[in-house]
Amino acid sequence: MAIYIDEQKKLFTLSTNNTSYQMMADKYLVLNHLYYGENIGQEDMSYLLDYQDRGFSGNPYEAGNERDYSLDSRPQEYSTNGVGDYRINSVSVINADGSDAADWRYVGYTTSKGKYAIPGMPALYGEEKDADTLIVELADKVTGLHAFLYYSVWEERDIITRCVKFVNQGTDAIVLTKAASMNLDLMSGDWELMHFHGRHNLERQMERVPLMRGKMTVESVRGASSHQHNPFAILCSKDTTEEAGPCYGTALVYSGNFSIEAEKDQMGQTRLTAGINSQRFSWTLEAGAEFWTPEAVMTYSSEGFEKMSSNFHHTFREHLCRGKYKHERRPVLINNWEATYFDFDKEKILNIAKGASELGVEMLVLDDGWFGKREGDVSGLGDWYVNTDKLEGGLKPIADGINAMGMKFGLWFEPECISEDSDLYRAHPDWAIQIPGRQPNRSRYQLILDMGREDVRDHLYERMTAILDSANIEYVKWDMNRHISDVYSAVLPKERQGEASHRYMLGLYDLLERLVSRYPDLLLEGCSGGGGRFDLGMLYYSPQIWCSDDTDAVERLSVQYGTSFCYPISAVGSHVSAVPNHQTGRITPVETRGTVAMAGSFGYELDLNLLSDGEKEEVKEQIKTFKKYYNLTHEGEYYRLTNPMENRLYAAWEFVSQDQSEALVHGMQILAQPSGPSIHIPVRGLKADAMYEVNGELVRSGRALMHGGLNFPRQTGDFKAVEFYLKEVK
Ligand code: GLA
Repeated sequence: MAIYIDEQKKLFTLSTNNTSYQMMADKYLVLNHLYYGENIGQEDMSYLLDYQDRGFSGNPYEAGNERDYSLDSRPQEYSTNGVGDYRINSVSVINADGSDAADWRYVGYTTSKGKYAIPGMPALYGEEKDADTLIVELADKVTGLHAFLYYSVWEERDIITRCVKFVNQGTDAIVLTKAASMNLDLMSGDWELMHFHGRHNLERQMERVPLMRGKMTVESVRGASSHQHNPFAILCSKDTTEEAGPCYGTALVYSGNFSIEAEKDQMGQTRLTAGINSQRFSWTLEAGAEFWTPEAVMTYSSEGFEKMSSNFHHTFREHLCRGKYKHERRPVLINNWEATYFDFDKEKILNIAKGASELGVEMLVLDDGWFGKREGDVSGLGDWYVNTDKLEGGLKPIADGINAMGMKFGLWFEPECISEDSDLYRAHPDWAIQIPGRQPNRSRYQLILDMGREDVRDHLYERMTAILDSANIEYVKWDMNRHISDVYSAVLPKERQGEASHRYMLGLYDLLERLVSRYPDLLLEGCSGGGGRFDLGMLYYSPQIWCSDDTDAVERLSVQYGTSFCYPISAVGSHVSAVPNHQTGRITPVETRGTVAMAGSFGYELDLNLLSDGEKEEVKEQIKTFKKYYNLTHEGEYYRLTNPMENRLYAAWEFVSQDQSEALVHGMQILAQPSGPSIHIPVRGLKADAMYEVNGELVRSGRALMHGGLNFPRQTGDFKAVEFYLKEVK
């Protein structure tokens, strides 16, 4: 067991190979957080609790004259509300008497082997040997609201997962208005916050800022985790680098409204919380009812960001992604979106497939426009019936035609959305989210279905299975092209409207689960206008997610860089598209586009028939290269060698095999510089004493390559790809 309990002291230590996490219920049964960091064995860290009488930081009644005991300065394991801690609350409630107090006191604990599961929600999974679980029970004695803090400790992976189950054991209804998944109080340290912001066409841009006195929040209230902020953040010290220094990574397994809040308090202590956003959230707990928060995943690394990312990457590949394609190489695909947009018919698609199959592409994905009255983006969403004007005979002939070329066939859906100009909307206007008596906000002309409704989900399940059973469809791209506003559910009473956003997510997860259970071999790719729902919740169902609608190779450098801090390479949908690029107008060589796209689930997004013969040859080679290096890029360790947020001249990244005998360094000379300085790129993760052959020529020691570096070639011309393959010479 990775969980050590001192019953006498009510001291709980969660221990992983390299980290320790400790909490203790004190004499007033308040659960104090004592420590999270480098492994300290079973040392009792409560000696760190060193407090003074602070004016305006009050004292719990039972502390009597003990004026140095204050909830306002004690590190809390799961912070209270309204009873004297003025910092970020983990929870807020409306009690039967209208008060908002939740005063957590320790009740007891249980432990078990293996990982807990969360009913109806995505979460990490594992066998008994993979994790141990501790459940600590807290209660508000007055109302009878109990909070069960769940922890699974992944000893080998340096990971701790958390969630909270609330149970109303009182006699009156209680309304939850905030319910964080985790709270982390750090008594010391001067921390910076790293987070990943963006917009449509430029997601997950890394920003690193010192915590200010006060609160800082990254969040979404858009009904999706969003392009604008990602449900993942890092606390690190000022001097933490890729290779050294402390950092805490926290990621939510959730795809809806979230907030991650950080506060530096009056004493300079830090609190971090993460969970469902309390805006647009309330949940009524009748007597006896329970509520589960989404899961939060935490890791601590004392060896910089690369160790933190490595902990996450391996854990998510092994214990979050599911299905046939968890480790199996996914087919190299061609998607017709940028090649045709809505303007296609069967012949055009078969022609694109044919050209692609001759170059080694393994699957064609038919994107938006194959159904209903869908000539553009103003109509048709919701009518999941094949448009036989475009695709004569339905999907079977096209799927069969593509299969006959030796390729798989995949299909785009946007199940959650609905056009007002659709038969579905005409039949069921109340299925769309809108507030009675108000004109809804439209986005891309469309509305969104209330996924919290069972009838909506049943209808979508019936339509999608009918389509998926009608032809040999082996892949689905699941899109969602707007954010939610005008939140209202026609099936909820007025006092429960605050539940609509979370019920939407539970409904979405329910439909996804039904589909992946029925089609266990189906490959799902998540998408939301590119990477607008790039989160661990979706990754549980779709092992890859379209990273960004911006397919420009230069723009992708910072998007994929930011994405890599939390998410594994296998999760990143990344394609070679046409030039001039449709988003930026930039012209980059096909080789460069391929090099960037190989750091992900690889594919094409153009009509390959339009390439020159020379370029076609390059594509052939590219696909061979992708396959040749697949084990390295997808199963190896990933290293960020440069930071494209700072360095606008060149970029480099590296993959190293688990046995460290091989490495692939990819990069780009972004802008050429005449008579520029020499550039040396120190690589990482090699065996210092081993000798490596670089691109089949020069032989150098791992030590030299890691400390001196590789000579980055200077070339004339912008956007030039760079590749080094390193192989150990035995
Ligand atoms: C979104 C996706 C694109 C494409 C279009 C189709 O924007 O991100 O890849 O599928 O929708 O409408």
